Amino acid sequence: MIQARYHFPQAFLWGTATSSHQVEGDNRDNDWWDWEQEADRILHGHKSGKACDWWAGRWAEDFDRAAESFQNAHRMSIEWSRVEPSPAVWDEAAIERYREILLGAVERGLTPMVTLHHFTNPSWVAERGGWLNPEIDKLFKRYVEKVVAALKDIVKIWITINEPNVYAYSAFVDGIFPPGGRDLRTLPTVIRHLIRAHAAAYHAIHRLQPSASVGLAHHYRGFEPVEGILPFNRMIAKFRSRGFNDIFPRAVTDGKIRFLQMRESIPEARGTQDFLGLNYYTKEQVSIQLSKPSAIFQAGGFAGDADLSPTGFIANKPDGFWDALRWAHGYGKPIYVLENGIEDSEDVIRPRYLASHLQKLWHGVNFNWRVKGYFHWTLVDNFEWERGWTQRFGLWALDPRTQERTKRPSADFFAEVCKDNALSSDLVRRFAPEIQDQLFPPRGPAELVERKK
Ligand code: BGC
Repeated sequence: MIQARYHFPQAFLWGTATSSHQVEGDNRDNDWWDWEQEADRILHGHKSGKACDWWAGRWAEDFDRAAESFQNAHRMSIEWSRVEPSPAVWDEAAIERYREILLGAVERGLTPMVTLHHFTNPSWVAERGGWLNPEIDKLFKRYVEKVVAALKDIVKIWITINEPNVYAYSAFVDGIFPPGGRDLRTLPTVIRHLIRAHAAAYHAIHRLQPSASVGLAHHYRGFEPVEGILPFNRMIAKFRSRGFNDIFPRAVTDGKIRFLQMRESIPEARGTQDFLGLNYYTKEQVSIQLSKPSAIFQAGGFAGDADLSPTGFIANKPDGFWDALRWAHGYGKPIYVLENGIEDSEDVIRPRYLASHLQKLWHGVNFNWRVKGYFHWTLVDNFEWERGWTQRFGLWALDPRTQERTKRPSADFFAEVCKDNALSSDLVRRFAPEIQDQLFPPRGPAELVERKK
């Protein structure tokens, strides 16, 4: 029987990722709280409520869970509406609470990574037009300066904005995030504002903390053409990928926005990522519908035989992760995988999803791609935006009514990976035996290495 290990480099960061609104609870001063009070915005009328109750102190027990399972890093976000509940009015007690949480992470051996914007805006920002307001970069920068000045002795790695592409599409085209916009024509403005705000934050952080490492969390989604005789599907897949994946990383590389007819220069955005943050979940199929060509802007589907998550939201596509890593490597920066995971309350697919994605990650590392860390989404089940509590991404299950946590097998699996800094054949045999031969082929290179020993 094969005994082999896929080793990761020294000082590799292993952790989980969370975001303020999804875990803190009682975030009453932001646009998501307001949105949740409206009818039909969230599946089954679910609300974030107490979420994982971190603001009241349960962050500590969850950080214990992370540290006891050998994680050495944690990615979390700061809630703008807590720090600045009304314009230029700072809540020093909230900032102090964040210091306590972040120091709590450090004390437990978790290197903190902080996201400054993860989908939510203070209600007062939303009332002033949110990301359509031409002053948004100034407002965001003022908040970022306050936070960085207060936390820079603890935090060295900053993520300015989480998934600007998902945010822009969901809030202004699909209408599923507040403010519920459904107008493609607003997209150029939102894209411009997001890039300007990121650039302003990047420079502000470096002024305050020259040694900081600053980037974005880019959501990369795979688009795979449905095979056909005509080249249309391939063209659409490429078009979708350019439109969804490339706009933001390109703009922060060369300072240029290219989107449909839009060609714009934002010189201050040039060279504004010190690392490439990559969020990857899945790869979808694309094909042209001749009866409805506008459908190329809509989400595609998955193949009939795809390995699907319980609500059909995610297909287990490790090959798409490989494409994502290669794509990320193309930007020439160190890479952090800042989110990767699957909703799976029964933990049936998660072990094989995790194993097969980690094997691709290792593969990339061995191509000398500068991958520095991996953050699983997520530690404990949390509030999943417009899908409410219907999807469970946690290594630990949560009953939001009782706040009771229950460990899923994947938590033990991930813990052993973190402890060994490696993915071993033994682990895969224990947790995902169904893909053992795929990851450690009996007659593949692993066996040859074993024989030499
Ligand atoms: C977001 C997370 C979210 C996850 C799973 C990502 O796009 O950054 O906030 O929970 O997807 O839905």
